[in-house]
Amino acid sequence: MASFVTSKCRPLKGSIKVPGDKSISHRSIMLGSIATGITKVSGFLQGEDSLATLNSFKEMGVQIDRQGSNVIINGVGMHGLKEPTKPLNLGNSGTSIRLMSGLLSAQNFDSELCGDESLSMRPMARVIEPLSRMGADISGPDSKPPLTIKGGKKLSSLNYTLPVASAQIKSCLLLAGLYADGETHVIENGISRDHTERMLRGFGYKVNTSPGEVSILGGGSLKACIIEVPSDISSSAFFMVAASIAKEADITLLAVNVNPTRTGVIDILRLMGANIELINERLEAGELIADIRICSSKLKGIKIPERLVPLAIDEFPAIFIAASCAEGETILTGAKELRVKESDRIQVMADGLSSLGIENEVLDDGIKIVGGEFKEQLAPIKSHHDHRISMSFAVASVRSNFEINIDGVDNVKTSFPNFVELANSIGMSIIETN
Ligand code: S3P
Repeated sequence: MASFVTSKCRPLKGSIKVPGDKSISHRSIMLGSIATGITKVSGFLQGEDSLATLNSFKEMGVQIDRQGSNVIINGVGMHGLKEPTKPLNLGNSGTSIRLMSGLLSAQNFDSELCGDESLSMRPMARVIEPLSRMGADISGPDSKPPLTIKGGKKLSSLNYTLPVASAQIKSCLLLAGLYADGETHVIENGISRDHTERMLRGFGYKVNTSPGEVSILGGGSLKACIIEVPSDISSSAFFMVAASIAKEADITLLAVNVNPTRTGVIDILRLMGANIELINERLEAGELIADIRICSSKLKGIKIPERLVPLAIDEFPAIFIAASCAEGETILTGAKELRVKESDRIQVMADGLSSLGIENEVLDDGIKIVGGEFKEQLAPIKSHHDHRISMSFAVASVRSNFEINIDGVDNVKTSFPNFVELANSIGMSIIETN
């Protein structure tokens, strides 16, 4: 089990480029594989999660050549995937298993999707239930992985209102909808990330969107295209928080995806008083990109608006560190989804903050955090093998006078393999031990 040991940082300075967006990397492989022609991807995230998706499509007979972050996918067309010879192992990746459930429910072969201990605990009823209504045969013990899918089912279209704001459920149904008879409608009560819709259009597939609703007509085909994956705002968030809470910081994060369905973290940090500037905004391959400059600031506690929760869903562990360094109390509600991510991110963060002496109160659907000073920890923080918990507590080191020890950081590789290297290059001081 690997651990991080942090010590006091230098003033944070410099320009860095964080790795490619995880959500877009997954989708590039899935759509590139079922397209006709050769899709070229650059900036692909070389993290374990997106590589699990890539390897699964190879197992289904797709020729995919990767050199570093450049990937060439020889698309097999809508009906060209082959039956895998063994269960597809999706590691820690919820996005892979939920999106592929939709796609594989529509194939004419059987498949099994499994993953690690954390993935095996995550709820899949949210995709099993609507897919079953479309005519899919998909099941798992207690509606959890491993999922068994029986192929050869003709799917029918569905009109479905999402029970929670979730791009994973929406995308799963859109991928199944590509193969369904008629038009599949997905209605959302909150905004969720829209990379699937944007990328489908990039592959020449018609997607109808109106506020709160997206629909797709089955039976079409995808044409290969070129995809440049921008930097991941979720990985960038650790440095946005680090520079906001550190003294004398001035850093720039280059070419970050600032798709408006993902920028909740910027809105929340700005409401807390952060000094964040978006520079050189431009549109690349259907996604909005910007360089982001962050300088030190004096943060204040806020009540986080619930409408921003789905727009910052993966960034809350880092935001909780910002709240710990803010003046006054920060209150988050309406965020029950955090309890079913790679770990229960409300409880696990609360435990870690308490061990650093930060007063907090766990709520059923959120947390209250009272800003203060980090104290010397009594025992190492347990990440519960959740990548974002590990990186968030590493960021706390920029305001700590003491070493912070974090155990179980191996899963940082799922989304941000060069986190330590980049963090240290701007002045942080993190050592990884085994
Ligand atoms: C993702 C959607 C989010 C997010 C996950 C990636 C995606 O999950 O937490 O890390 O790529 O669609 P939900 O849509 O279930 O909230």
